[in-house]
Amino acid sequence: MIDVPSELLRRIREHGQEHVLKFWDDLNETQQEQFACQLEAVDFELFNSLQQLSAESTPVELHPSPIVALNDTYREIGVERIKKGELSVLTVAGGQGTRLGWSGPKGTFPATPVTGKSLFQVVAEQILFAEKQYGVVIPWYIMTSSQNDAATRSFLLDNNCFGLERTDIFIFTQGEVPASTKDGKMLLSSHGSVAMNPDGHGGVISALKVSGGLEEMESRGIKYISYVQIDNPMANVVDPKFLGIHLSEESSKEVTSKCVKKTNPKERVGVFCLVDGKTTIVEYSDLPTEKTVEQNDNNELSYGAGSIAIHMLSTEFLQRVVDGMPWHIAHKTVPHVDLNTGDYVNPKSPNANKYERFVFDVLPLAKKSLVVETEREDEFAPIKNAQGVDSPSTSQQFQRDRAIRWLRKCSVDVSDNANVEISPLSGSVPEELNCQEFPSSIGDGETVVL
Ligand code: UTP
Repeated sequence: MIDVPSELLRRIREHGQEHVLKFWDDLNETQQEQFACQLEAVDFELFNSLQQLSAESTPVELHPSPIVALNDTYREIGVERIKKGELSVLTVAGGQGTRLGWSGPKGTFPATPVTGKSLFQVVAEQILFAEKQYGVVIPWYIMTSSQNDAATRSFLLDNNCFGLERTDIFIFTQGEVPASTKDGKMLLSSHGSVAMNPDGHGGVISALKVSGGLEEMESRGIKYISYVQIDNPMANVVDPKFLGIHLSEESSKEVTSKCVKKTNPKERVGVFCLVDGKTTIVEYSDLPTEKTVEQNDNNELSYGAGSIAIHMLSTEFLQRVVDGMPWHIAHKTVPHVDLNTGDYVNPKSPNANKYERFVFDVLPLAKKSLVVETEREDEFAPIKNAQGVDSPSTSQQFQRDRAIRWLRKCSVDVSDNANVEISPLSGSVPEELNCQEFPSSIGDGETVVL
């Protein structure tokens, strides 16, 4: 039996959270040590400031964001910078993947249609291909969470990092914040632990800083970060056209984002808008209904530039905004220990506040930004849900369809029903493929991996 360390006790009391110690005396010594350790790591000041957050209001001054098409014009500039070793890839993979219901980290999910390569392998092989093509190291930064960090590390090691050098992969863990009751009390997830939640994909910027990742980038001469989420196996993670357009004007942009046309007004993706003159992503749930259906002169959705969560970020910019990222509050259902009975309860309706940051909040912080439109069919096949839209089966179908289109560009006579997969080691865009190596035709139902 140990006492709560006095300095820790003082902080807990100062912030009005003594209730978290209610079951302290029931814990054994190891549990007490672990609990004290967890509490020492809690940022009470931050937690306090989050209690002042109020529900968000819908933006008033809203206009569609200007968009340019992703094109070849600046590709060479991008290639040049990649060859100089200035580009890195950043994958956020700390999410809980609740909707997909996969037991391991989402990055370990088998995503490709024929060989079932994992989402991590798809990114790793794209990087490997680009490293060979440009003769340079492209370091890979992966954000995990405390829940999936160990499993992510072993998965990569067990698979020999899919051919990448382990020393060129920087794995770091995102921050966590306690969930609270609506009146600002921390919840317990057991008698000896506070219920913590990952701080959202927007936590990536502070996590990069705290983990030394930003410094590491600087020491390697990295100036640009290709940001992708782990759940989109069609994202082109090393894209010289994208980097080139990011650098296309002298007063360099701080962030450039890819968008695709929304398929319909109800598609649940964030939309690029101008809010008070600043490029911003407005979440689908926050876009006023009349705006979701509004059409422009070309009979297209006025607010139809859907975000696919692919951004090119300048490292200098991240250094500047690391402390300026806003927080959001979400009312969620959080299982917890009932303080009166000591029982673990699983509420049926939202009982708590969770606090998160969103990566797209960097956009309005940028002095200069740009939104470029890419082809949905080439770059967007997210795996979010177990079934239905944005599920493994829709993603695999999109990957298959893309492979068929690319093979046709190589003059291969492919049936619409061929079961084909193109490895990222063969190229990430049609121009990179070695068409001579492909068969001249692929028939109905035939399975081919290239
Ligand atoms: P989502 O918002 O789709 O969340 O994450 P999720 O956790 O993967 O899935 P659900 O909502 O529980 O079903 C989009 C991307 O952001 C990462 C995810 O790993 C995914 O790549 N992410 C999300 C984090 O890295 N950390 C977070 O706290 C949240």
